[in-house]
Amino acid sequence: MKRTLGTCYYPEHWPEDMWEDDAARMVRAGLTWVRIGEFSWSRLEPTPGDLHWDWLDSAIEVLGKAGLKVVLGTPTATPPRWMIDKHPAMLAVDADGNPRKFGSRRHYCFSHLGYREESRRITRLMAERYGRNPNVAAWQTDNEYGCHDTTISYSESARDGFRDWLAQRYQSVDALNRAWGNIFWSMEYRSFDEVDLPNLTVTEPNPAHVQDFRRYSSDMVVAFNKVQVCEIKERSDAPISHNYMGRITDFDHYKVGEDLDIATWDSYPLGFLEDRVGADAARQRAYARQGDPDFQAFHHDLYRAVGRGRWWVMEQQPGPVNWAPYNPSPLPGMVRLWTWEAFAHGAEAVCYFRWRQASFAQEQLHAGMLRPDSKDAPAMAEAQEVARELADAPNVQPAQAPVALVFDYDSDWAWATQPHGTGLSYFGLVFDHYKALRRAGLTVDIVAPNCKDFEGYKLIMAPGLMHLTGGLRAALAIAEGHVCYGPRTGARDAGFKIPIPLPPAIEGLDVTVARLESLRPDMPISLDGGGAVSGYVEELEGTAPVLMQTDAGAPVLMGAAGQSYCGAWLDEDGMDRLVGLLGERSGLEIRALPEGIRTRRTATEEFWFNHTSKVVETPAGVLPPAGIARRKL
Ligand code: GAL
Repeated sequence: MKRTLGTCYYPEHWPEDMWEDDAARMVRAGLTWVRIGEFSWSRLEPTPGDLHWDWLDSAIEVLGKAGLKVVLGTPTATPPRWMIDKHPAMLAVDADGNPRKFGSRRHYCFSHLGYREESRRITRLMAERYGRNPNVAAWQTDNEYGCHDTTISYSESARDGFRDWLAQRYQSVDALNRAWGNIFWSMEYRSFDEVDLPNLTVTEPNPAHVQDFRRYSSDMVVAFNKVQVCEIKERSDAPISHNYMGRITDFDHYKVGEDLDIATWDSYPLGFLEDRVGADAARQRAYARQGDPDFQAFHHDLYRAVGRGRWWVMEQQPGPVNWAPYNPSPLPGMVRLWTWEAFAHGAEAVCYFRWRQASFAQEQLHAGMLRPDSKDAPAMAEAQEVARELADAPNVQPAQAPVALVFDYDSDWAWATQPHGTGLSYFGLVFDHYKALRRAGLTVDIVAPNCKDFEGYKLIMAPGLMHLTGGLRAALAIAEGHVCYGPRTGARDAGFKIPIPLPPAIEGLDVTVARLESLRPDMPISLDGGGAVSGYVEELEGTAPVLMQTDAGAPVLMGAAGQSYCGAWLDEDGMDRLVGLLGERSGLEIRALPEGIRTRRTATEEFWFNHTSKVVETPAGVLPPAGIARRKL
């Protein structure tokens, strides 16, 4: 498949007489795709039932005539002001019980059935009008589910929906009381109607209650999305996508993804480094103009799994953004590097957000491919360079990686529900594993927890799966490659209880977690041979051979040929040792890459990326800052 480029365009932001020239310039720049429509509801339906399609008809025609393919977004992330008058209870409610106000976006509650119907109605109308339009080559549902902390809403609709959901799940309130352990603190209910949402309690609510509410909230996102997919599918053959975000884990993306044809995500490397990577100040400084060397790659690999192989970058940062604590410009060459990195990980398309910088409203300080005066912004030249390179270069041929890393949303919620120590998060733990694998020069596939067959993987890392389902347990048990289970594996059952026999209870591996503790950041425990445990550690019992231990002789990694268990969160040196040890045992080629250099193998070649601001000598040659090398295997 030929890899392609695109951009995000808002025809409703510009006078109609600019559209033709914009479209012609997009084509000249080498772009194929243009995503439009996703925030346009107030122009499509200025008052309830009064639909204005004419402007969108002509925008699609102008773009299509110029040779562009349109990705049409449903406008449901921005319900217009009149919608609130029509459905006052549709607003999402925060954990303090305050309704979120109109005046930005994503103000709806996923549980509100009236709004869900409105979303169905506008999607159906759009699909009826454009489902067979030859210029509409793909769809996008809504925009960034969960962004701005919007998955979980403590509204009355959510409360009512949650009660129904519980009634279906547990059938009887006694079963719910037993499953949650509500005898504790006299929390027993006499009917499902007595169950409230787990906010505004005096001290922490029952974790089983919180975890089920998270599961319910995730199901609401899946249901909301499914309604739109059904409306579009009935009327169009074009593929349907949704643009996910970086480090938003409040809903199960795999489940949303099952209803879609393509997963896309919005990649803002510099914004993310500042506000969600979790890097220390020195690292933030070192990578301020390049972004974290692993954060984008992690999401590329995650969304490849969510899209079951088909994925894009729908929004690529083209210059400074407006929303992070600090918003520097990318180093020259980084826009090109980010684009090629996405292709190396298998992206079908990369689209830059946005075409022209807006001179009004919230994102005035967000760069585009064009400046507000329509002159080229610096990203334009880099996008054009990629377009030229794509025309000449061989196609990227994806291949299965030798290493699998399991990522599970339910486990992420379980850690958030009961972190046991400040700053301990499942995402953070899995990401630390991913970074160590990449520092060792390995190519990684992220794998969903419903994977039934790990065939072909030499090493499978499965850290932190707090609730290890029977299916995944069975699949891992028969995997040919080495399986390394990480801390807190199987630590809770489906009802959020500690299972007995005690975790991890892995067949054929005599290891038991006898006790566990979380550690202050200033109390690392050093490991025999280098590195340290930091943040979280378990006391391991059993007869399995000890592969790594603390200076004091306490086992940290136990196991043998086919499987092992690591009962600690390791620091960077500790993680490098873990990956080195397991990698060698699994027959993988381990290379200690220079700082900030990352590689990715495809079926036929190896890509090398220099994420630093310095010239670096690598086995693939000398790479300038933001440099890229492509080597045949
Ligand atoms: C994304 C969003 C876009 C735009 C962009 C700014 O999260 O989908 O609409 O707001 O951020 O960086």
